[in-house]
Amino acid sequence: MQDNIAIIGLGYVGLPLALELAKNFDVIGFDVSVRRTRELKAHQDRTGVASRETLRNSSLRITSTTNDLVGRAIYIVTVPTPVDSEKQPDLSALLNACKAVGQLMRKGSIIVFESTVYPGVTEEICGPELEQTSGLISGKEFFLGYSPERMNPGDEEHTVDRITKVVAGQTSEVTQKLAQLYGSINGKKIFTAKNIKTAEAAKVIENAQRDINIAFINEVAMICKKTGLSTHEVLTAARTKWNFLDFVPGLVGGHCIGVDPYYLSYWSKINGHNPEVILAGRRINDGMAVFLAEKINKELTQGRKKILILGLSFKANVPDLRNSKSADLANALKRQGHDIEVHDPVVDVAEARTVYGFDLLKNLQKVNYFDCVIGSVSHKTYCSFDSHILVSLIKNDGLIVDLKGMWQGIELPKTVRRWDL
Ligand SMILES: NC(=O)c1ccc[n+]([C@@H]2O[C@H](COP(=O)([O-])OP(=O)(O)OC[C@H]3O[C@@H](n4cnc5c(N)ncnc54)[C@H](O)[C@@H]3O)[C@@H](O)[C@H]2O)c1
Repeated sequence: MQDNIAIIGLGYVGLPLALELAKNFDVIGFDVSVRRTRELKAHQDRTGVASRETLRNSSLRITSTTNDLVGRAIYIVTVPTPVDSEKQPDLSALLNACKAVGQLMRKGSIIVFESTVYPGVTEEICGPELEQTSGLISGKEFFLGYSPERMNPGDEEHTVDRITKVVAGQTSEVTQKLAQLYGSINGKKIFTAKNIKTAEAAKVIENAQRDINIAFINEVAMICKKTGLSTHEVLTAARTKWNFLDFVPGLVGGHCIGVDPYYLSYWSKINGHNPEVILAGRRINDGMAVFLAEKINKELTQGRKKILILGLSFKANVPDLRNSKSADLANALKRQGHDIEVHDPVVDVAEARTVYGFDLLKNLQKVNYFDCVIGSVSHKTYCSFDSHILVSLIKNDGLIVDLKGMWQGIELPKTVRRWDL
């Protein structure tokens, strides 16, 4: 009989995975959010990952009832792993998922974790939790696996069916089984890690490396700003070297790059090493919104200004509002006494209000109204702006702040000032 699979958590990671696996297997997807399952059953995906047509045509079953998941051969857990207010790993969703799966699994089930964790979580925290709730023995009566997720929402090239998947199982048979399972959806682009801890470590270092590289470029931008050089021009020149790493300065928000380095540093500390570079990178990137607010404030002439921020989601062309640094920038500018309006054509208006208290601007028809327009997220719409649109938004002698470098090729009239990183 073919393996049947349950996916636990149908968010940015779980849903596309479930849809891909459902092409070859009997798959049921579960989410604790009844709103999420209700919407998905109505073929509506608020994350924008799956179209109505894809959802309608898929054999994926969706449920908010745990009893529908009893006795599955494979459970794949894709729940959030954020940090708490002290920037410590918050494993509560993961543990809740383990408690649920422990009551549903059968002898021989394989439980695979895709959520980003620090090394040891799968075997030393999730395994015992599953043992306790199921009464079964880990490694004998049920088996653990880990396969980090690398897909990149908003990126049409690196989708779950195209990228190399790292897999590791508690036994070589489980590793092989996972290689076959994931290989069936991505053209067999599989790397089998030495063991589960190695696979867990690979994922957190990948994202911490990106964070540190961006932090370095952000620090370069801070130095350039002090010295009057254009960071973009310095980077354009440096990029001509064959081994220069191509990163750009900017805000680092979201639930991965801004979070995973804390998982790595937590793991480092519990093992007796005080991480310096990792946390320094975090400090720089977390401080960028305040740094930018100060710089922008200095560029504006004195007094209360009307400022428009274009983009609230944490990354381009994705409605994900988690850990939005544009929100931090807006709040820092508000604290400096300015009037802030925020526009974002991609995010959910109600969510923006609930999470950040912003009533998003419905359209961009306030002609010559703003003293300053800040391009904060490079949504496709904003990238397609021309000089005419930008100038129409802003007063004479207003300031256009191009944080993403998306309007660099645009000639602006002398009546408008320009500032970038
Ligand atoms: N989004 C990404 O780009 C990305 C990329 C790689 C790795 N990851 C990692 O994958 C994991 C999931 O991230 P995401 O972006 O899909 O999160 P998400 O918030 O989009 O989705 C998680 C889903 O899990 C549900 N959930 C929470 N607790 C649950 C539980 N106990 N049982 C069942 N469902 C539960 C939530 O309601 C939500 O719908 C995280 O560890 C994240 O770090 C995310």
